[in-house]
Amino acid sequence: MVEFSFQGFGTEKNVVKVVPVFKDRDVFERIGSFLSEKEIKQLKKALENRSFKFKDDEMLVLDDGVQKYLLVAVKPRMPAVEVQRLGAKIARKLAGERVIEFFVPAELKDRAADLALGTELELYSFDKYFTKKKPDDFDQLETVRFYFEKGEPEADKFAEMKALANGVRYARDLANEPPNVLTPEAMARDIERLAYLGLEVEVVPTEALQKKGFCLTYEVGKESVNQPYAAIICWRGRSKQKDFDAVLVGKGVTFDSGGINLKPAKALENMKMDMSGAAVVAAVMKVVALRQMKLNVAAVMGLAENMIGGKAYKPQDVIKSASGLTVEVANSDAEGRMLLADCLWYATEKLKARTVIDLATLTGATANMLGGVFAGLFCEDEALSRALLDAGKASGEKLWPLPMAPEYEEKIKSDIADVCHIGSGGAGASTAAAFLKRFVKGKAAWAHLDIAGCEGRNKPKPMYPKGATGFGVKLLYDYLKGLK
Ligand code: BES
Ligand code: ZN
Ligand code: ZN
Repeated sequence: MVEFSFQGFGTEKNVVKVVPVFKDRDVFERIGSFLSEKEIKQLKKALENRSFKFKDDEMLVLDDGVQKYLLVAVKPRMPAVEVQRLGAKIARKLAGERVIEFFVPAELKDRAADLALGTELELYSFDKYFTKKKPDDFDQLETVRFYFEKGEPEADKFAEMKALANGVRYARDLANEPPNVLTPEAMARDIERLAYLGLEVEVVPTEALQKKGFCLTYEVGKESVNQPYAAIICWRGRSKQKDFDAVLVGKGVTFDSGGINLKPAKALENMKMDMSGAAVVAAVMKVVALRQMKLNVAAVMGLAENMIGGKAYKPQDVIKSASGLTVEVANSDAEGRMLLADCLWYATEKLKARTVIDLATLTGATANMLGGVFAGLFCEDEALSRALLDAGKASGEKLWPLPMAPEYEEKIKSDIADVCHIGSGGAGASTAAAFLKRFVKGKAAWAHLDIAGCEGRNKPKPMYPKGATGFGVKLLYDYLKGLK
């Protein structure tokens, strides 16, 4: 973890000085106390000599043998997420350094915390299982100091950034854990520990699942030696108000083998991350508590391992859900919607949610269609849809609206039960949404976010190193912030 500080300039050697430069205004005129006149001359000359173009995020590293500098092109007004990305790129460029000192021109005063957030998220690594790697093999950046041209740093903005970075780290840590370690029970126990933040956490053990209404979750997970669980987290930041401003729902499949409809080898890659939806909603609850948000928010998570064996649920089984609907199983690999169905029912029937948002690595169809660039948004409520799309843009965790329609509801009719859990005739992502809709009770505004393909990366991009991304934490935090 990087430490951010606002003092101690000139107390250490081997510091890299970072200077943002604008195309159309001169920062050097006002940088006097951060750099000496000699340094200013030297840097200005370097910009000319190297024909710096001031293209977006263009960088120039200079080393005169005594001092290292990084010049970076910026614009006077930059959206938060662009600044976060820039912070990540700078962190990547200087990852091997120990201390960097950042000049913050007045134009970027409100964005310093975003630079810090980008740095934190970029330098995340999951290294607990290396036993012989040397310290030098890891990024070294320890301290980033911000030198403000004008005004003081806003302590609350930095506290917010720390809370958000903490949440993303939590979601990534959970999803990066190997599946032999992070079983449904281990995940439930981890979530239970969030109670130290003042969150009410209820863990539903295997034997209580059916009684509590998690009948389909039980069916999915009952074969595995790593038995299924559920977890419910509540935060009441508006004590006078009874109901919840939002209830979040997450798919927590700690490993998806496909079950009897066993996945082929290639498709098993990354299936330890099939619990990302649940990890992300738990992480959002962590941020909500760390920020003491004045909202009532809850999260409901189904946790199971989808395995193959004699007791496993199988195609053609018919199962009765807590809502009373009977479900015909058609393919044991469509396990996620089973867990979500229980959670959506619990959220709307038991918690009386007026707004429900579920996150799930639900379909290969969405992963293939959107390729991890967007998550699929299924939502028939215009206001909720708009708010989520806006939060997607602001956070950089983008959503693309995908269709829901009565025709897709037709496709999940069963010959033997109330509903079939997969559709026939294509549109796998939309028929999955049609199935989920059957379990949303009352008049709740509901959105389903299919994050398949967004949960992990093989190729890094700024702020999202290789491995689990925590996609959705920033997005949902921005959405919740908009509710206040
Ligand atoms: N966990 C998978 C979906 C998935 C695929 C997530 C690729 C991330 C990357 C899900 O449980 C699944 O297997 N869905 C099936 C459903 C089908 C059997 C109707 C799918 O999409 O193939
Ligand atoms: Zn599956
Ligand atoms: Zn799955």
